[in-house]
Amino acid sequence: MKIILCKNYYEVSLQAANIVAQQIKNKPQSVLGLPTGSTPLGLYKSLIKMNKENTLDFSGVITFNLDEYYPISRDNAQSYYYFMHDNLFNHININKQNVHILNGEATDPQEECTNYESAIEKAGGIDLQVLGIGQNGHIGFNEPGNTLKSTTNLTDLTPNTIDVNSRFFEKIEDVPKKSLTMGIGSIMKSKKIILLASGVEKANAISELLKGDITTANPSTLLNAHRDVTIIVDNAAMEG
Ligand code: GLP
Repeated sequence: MKIILCKNYYEVSLQAANIVAQQIKNKPQSVLGLPTGSTPLGLYKSLIKMNKENTLDFSGVITFNLDEYYPISRDNAQSYYYFMHDNLFNHININKQNVHILNGEATDPQEECTNYESAIEKAGGIDLQVLGIGQNGHIGFNEPGNTLKSTTNLTDLTPNTIDVNSRFFEKIEDVPKKSLTMGIGSIMKSKKIILLASGVEKANAISELLKGDITTANPSTLLNAHRDVTIIVDNAAMEG
């Protein structure tokens, strides 16, 4: 595991943007796995800037988002579908047919998960997976627990995640109780992974991850078993 220690959030975003840009330049048809949350916003801003300045071309890029609340409608401003279009896809020259986001309105969530997993495989697997991390160590919506699911699945959000994510909703009751998420296996199959973390709220989760042990109590620790992971953290997130 490689660690890039940054002074602050701005630097985390720049380092991540350089890695993503390099990936796309090396392979214009790259398959990217993308996260939501506050952390990747700086990265997305940098990518938009590069695209507008004509230094980065997204026309061949294929994306798969990590997760989505369930149930939630696409036009709900808190859906990850809305978030990704608002913060990235509407501002770059990506072919919208190459964008994949789990459908929070699916009538058969199990079928949605199976189809998503097949679509990733059909695209040739994920070349570069970008991850954030939850305060409790979740990646995607793979929550701490006794077991972790390998493939894309419908999962219950923990009270901690509902609480932490309620800051985006009007009231806590509005936070969906479930989500659709790529599984740990779906993430681990990615050829290369970068995980971004900024701020002291992430320090505990990061310190557990960097101990090197693997535990379902902190799903991010599974990354210790992957051979190409880079953690991009700022000083505050390293405080633990
Ligand atoms: C959400 C997402 C995760 C994300 C995490 C951290 O719960 N499902 O994929 O990594 O939040 O979010 P933030 O970057 O806002 O701290």
